[in-house]
Amino acid sequence: MQSIERTTGCGLVTADYLNKDICLSGWVSRRRDHGGLIFIDLRDRSGLMQVIFNPDFAKEAHKLAHQLRSEYVISVCGKVVERTPETVNKELPTGKYELQVTNLTVLNKAKTLPFMLEEADTVDEELRLKYRYLDLRRPAMREKFALRSDVIFAMREFFHKDGFYEIETPILTKNTPEGAREFLVPSRLHHGSVYAMPQSPQLYKQLLMASGMEKYFQIARCFRDEDLRADRQPEFTQLDVEMSFVDEKMIQDTTERMLAYVYKKIFDKTLPLPFERMTYDDAFSTYGSDKPDVRFDLHIKDCTKLFADTELKFLRAIIDKGGKIGGLHVTGQDFSRGDLDKWVNRALELGAKGLVYINVKDDNTFESPISKFLPADFLKQAQTIFHDVSPRSTLFLVAGQYKEAWDVLGRLRLELARQLKMIPYEKDAFLWITDFPLFDYDEKAKQWNAVHHPFTSPQACPPEPGRRREGWETQEQDQMKARAYDIVLNGTELGGGSIRIHEREMQDKVFEILGLDKEKAQEKFGFLLEAQELGFPPHGGIALGLDRLIMLMTRSASIREVIAFPKTQRGYDPMMQAPTPVDDTVWREYGLRLNKK
Ligand code: AMO
Repeated sequence: MQSIERTTGCGLVTADYLNKDICLSGWVSRRRDHGGLIFIDLRDRSGLMQVIFNPDFAKEAHKLAHQLRSEYVISVCGKVVERTPETVNKELPTGKYELQVTNLTVLNKAKTLPFMLEEADTVDEELRLKYRYLDLRRPAMREKFALRSDVIFAMREFFHKDGFYEIETPILTKNTPEGAREFLVPSRLHHGSVYAMPQSPQLYKQLLMASGMEKYFQIARCFRDEDLRADRQPEFTQLDVEMSFVDEKMIQDTTERMLAYVYKKIFDKTLPLPFERMTYDDAFSTYGSDKPDVRFDLHIKDCTKLFADTELKFLRAIIDKGGKIGGLHVTGQDFSRGDLDKWVNRALELGAKGLVYINVKDDNTFESPISKFLPADFLKQAQTIFHDVSPRSTLFLVAGQYKEAWDVLGRLRLELARQLKMIPYEKDAFLWITDFPLFDYDEKAKQWNAVHHPFTSPQACPPEPGRRREGWETQEQDQMKARAYDIVLNGTELGGGSIRIHEREMQDKVFEILGLDKEKAQEKFGFLLEAQELGFPPHGGIALGLDRLIMLMTRSASIREVIAFPKTQRGYDPMMQAPTPVDDTVWREYGLRLNKK
């Protein structure tokens, strides 16, 4: 049997070990031969240590060391000595020392790797995912998972101290529509029936409030069969929270205190509380998004009044149809004609009907496809909106229906800021978005949908003379607001939650607006409706995307970087090669037959 002695980690060798005999184990990170000496950078989880094979001290070990190649797994014993001053490596915590090896054991060999670990950033992602265990061997990757582990531990500590119970909920469950398509699992025992995998533990956590648990949290796996993007995976993790006898503020306070606790523990950073709050309407009108990046300004301004009397046909037509013209103002940039044309094309790609630029030249004249149509006092008028229009100012204008135009402007704002290096990436900007609409109208399907989910409580009417404040149902559907909130970090939606409906009567009315008839509601949500009549306390909660939080904390480009074994953009696992086809016999067990056509 191989003996594996390990005194400490490679990266943990300090002056305490000087002139002592120790044993280390790890991977050969690099081998160099130098005038009869063999140097190895030995790597384990804790870091690197230089080990040296000198034929004068250990003939056998030196001979064996000739066989060593990258990623061999070895165990070495020897004496820790000081390096000569000129060979000290200041970059390494252990750079002052080296291990003079007397004994070497090869624990395992390694063939040439499919990619060099230090070059992993430049290889195809699918190859990295196929050999994910090699990819994860890289110190930069390991650090992300160490941080993820510490964050989860800190979260558990916080909630435990705050009196929360950690409770697991089922993975095999009934479908509870929350917007995305579900993953389904055919039942072997109930042919023709399926379990659905949870998009989130939403209904279970509400039912835990009906169970009197009062304060629940879970690090919960969630499954959504939706189109994947940099911040979306089919299988992801939420920090899921629910509380009884609370209002919006209490849930937001708890979330803020938890995040402050985590940031203090992990980064020793004090987050200023409370976080900024912004209504959905303000966020959309200023940033063209419900998840604005507020680390920089570049606000969208309504410029419709500048063109109230315009004779330009295309603008006239849009304004006459109730559309609007929104603008972004960039200063101090010398855009060439080519640059401006590129931005026009980009706006078209983003779905705009067009983009109009107005460049203010040094002599206060305009470079613009519509310069002939601008009134003499245009600069003065523009000043009333943007305040600081001057030579070398550029206005980018998008005209259209409010929602579409502002959506394009919001995306253009982000792209301009990225290209013009306006984003202070070192900053963290947390933000609450509040007062979401309760429903939105699907023109195609001709029906109202819940913006958050159908269990979200409506807000009471805003106070208005002659109207009962509590009568939410007396408003027009498009005016109804939800008791829902999102938390945003640096332009990414980190989490969302709401105060839920706990009374049957209100739930029935919401289902009715959503076009869910009584029978269907009973079939889908009978268990919830019944619970609402058996002493359901007022309650609410939130869920934070854990992968997204870790992605942002580690400044990673995608959540795939912080998930140990993620799927590709096409939902494929190249390492396990999942999903896989199965034999007809397997389908038969489930009472199914594959349609091979
Ligand atoms: P919601 O659907 O907004 O709310 O999800 C909450 C948070 O989960 C993260 N998230 C995802 N992360 C990675 N990949 C995905 N496919 C994905 N989908 C969502 C996001 C998001 O903000 N049950 C409600 C919460 C509640 O009301 O308490 C829910 O799931 O960070």
